[in-house]
Amino acid sequence: MIEFSLRNDVYRRPLMTALDRLGLREGWRCLDVGAGGGDVSVALAEVVGRDGRVYAVDSDPHARDLVATAAAAAGQGQVIAITQQAEDLLLPEPVDLAFCRFVLMHVHDPAVVLERMGGAVRPGGWVVAQEPITSAGRVGGRPLSMPDARHPDVGAELPALALAAGLEVLDAWAESQAGAGPGPVADYLEHLTGVHPGADAVVLPPLVTVVARRPLH
Ligand SMILES: C[S@@+](CC[C@H](N)C(=O)[O-])C[C@H]1O[C@@H](n2cnc3c(N)ncnc32)[C@H](O)[C@@H]1O
Repeated sequence: MIEFSLRNDVYRRPLMTALDRLGLREGWRCLDVGAGGGDVSVALAEVVGRDGRVYAVDSDPHARDLVATAAAAAGQGQVIAITQQAEDLLLPEPVDLAFCRFVLMHVHDPAVVLERMGGAVRPGGWVVAQEPITSAGRVGGRPLSMPDARHPDVGAELPALALAAGLEVLDAWAESQAGAGPGPVADYLEHLTGVHPGADAVVLPPLVTVVARRPLH
């Protein structure tokens, strides 16, 4: 699955920054919304360990097999893959953390999904979202676009959306990788757009991370 391994490569740094900031620990119960190929689910499982749990939810039934395969390959049997719409989230238990990456940009209503994520965590639990500002990416100085995404710049709205979902925002920032010439940044852009940037300078779309909390009361 080249799509997911490339994304994992170039966007792993923002993921690690977020997990560090959060203080994710062994034993946490987590939810990965729009899990796709399971990169984030497996990364979460590696930290929470055998005593933790990761529910990997995706609306595409095909993702269940991808996640199961990725989790098995990584030896992380505590990943539970579920086919479900994020808008209809229903888990067997409250979780400590609900996470999503590159998902709100595709859903009909990002506010509804953030609300559902807030409802899935225990009071005082964490909601973390990582979404791009596509048009802030650059190739040879020109802005990027992503016509297939419903909300390609939803990253710019993320802190406001989290507040509107009734969450306390603890931190928010933007992060991206840049490059020129051959390398993972150019490969990822080629995968995304079908066009190799050659020697052009590339700034990948910054990911905005919001770290928020469900209020205790
Ligand atoms: C671009 S992929 C991101 C995958 C993964 N989060 C990552 O960062 O590697 C978006 C995923 O969100 C899923 N998705 C889109 N809309 C959804 C919805 N309403 N509910 C649940 N999953 C959804 C898609 O099926 C797809 O697997």
